[in-house]
Amino acid sequence: MSINMPLLQVENLHLSLTTDAGSFPAVEGVSFEIARGETVGLVGESGCGKSITALSIMGLLRHPLGLSGGTIKLTGQEIQALPASELRALRGKRIAMIFQEPMTALNPLKPVGRQIAEMFVLHQGASWNEAEKKAVDALTQVKVPAPARRAKDYPHQLSGGMRQRVMIAIALACEPDLLIADEPTTALDVTVQAEIVDLMKELCAARGTAILMISHDLGLVTDICKRVCVMYAGRIVEQQDSEQIFNNPQHPYTQGLVASLPRLGMRALHGRRKLTEIAGVVPGITAYPGGCRFNPRCNRATEICKQVVPELEPLGDGSLVRCHHHG
Ligand SMILES: Nc1ncnc2c1ncn2[C@@H]1O[C@H](COP(=O)(O)OP(=O)(O)OP(=O)(O)O)[C@@H](O)[C@H]1O
Ligand SMILES: [Mg+2]
Repeated sequence: MSINMPLLQVENLHLSLTTDAGSFPAVEGVSFEIARGETVGLVGESGCGKSITALSIMGLLRHPLGLSGGTIKLTGQEIQALPASELRALRGKRIAMIFQEPMTALNPLKPVGRQIAEMFVLHQGASWNEAEKKAVDALTQVKVPAPARRAKDYPHQLSGGMRQRVMIAIALACEPDLLIADEPTTALDVTVQAEIVDLMKELCAARGTAILMISHDLGLVTDICKRVCVMYAGRIVEQQDSEQIFNNPQHPYTQGLVASLPRLGMRALHGRRKLTEIAGVVPGITAYPGGCRFNPRCNRATEICKQVVPELEPLGDGSLVRCHHHG
């Protein structure tokens, strides 16, 4: 295996939604790569297809959603068509995921320590005794105070932030190569959000774990990730380094996202400054417009934007943009 081989390669991914009225493209031609230890963000408004992209990587898509094209490779091996048993073995061990609401992912009837221990038993063949000890270590690493005592708690006995720490402990238990974090802090208080983000960053950096960070919050994603993919209505419309995206957003949608971010300083000056918002709403999946899907909301749109789907075009500096009138 080549040392330079990307950890994850998503190539021309197509996901469809089947309804009584027919089949609709929920995700169309999404491609991106993640190198070992790299941090990549996926941002975009609600409904643009971020979570289902993540679920497809985990092999967790279920009817009415399905994979209709493309490949997903983990260190070169196609995983999108693996049998369920092999996918289960990958999950947790090589790719792990944390979700917005840990309560839905945790089992309410089992102590959290037990749920972490299960990972060691399942994936590493540890004995229960050994696994319970490792679970307490794992809780220590995610900075849960009094870990030995907390291990015996049930999920409902913990705060939202503590539950998310438990989820991170479960996700990182078997040292996966890739952590997919889908809106991991959206349900938390702002101060707790920052702690969880710092914890994820620190633990993943120390272990060389790659991160795919999913959020509607461009500020959060650029804080964690080296590179950002911006999605709009099922397509990637821009890909850039985080450092660059604020100074040089190319797609009108990204420009709108950047303009709507509260600026440091500005906030202090103006207090609760009204944010610039992008007018209009994301069209529903069954009503995506032809051509560029952003065209009905775009002040730069011309006739070609309604007719022709723009290609995702390389700009030479490693960034990509899908717009007839970018820049
Ligand atoms: N189980 C499902 N049944 C029907 N439609 C679904 C299902 N899951 C997702 N969809 C649709 O697929 C599209 C993409 O959904 P997805 O959950 O990936 O969006 P998202 O970008 O993660 O949004 P959010 O920011 O709200 O989490 C949406 O139009 C959504 O309504
Ligand atoms: Mg989502």
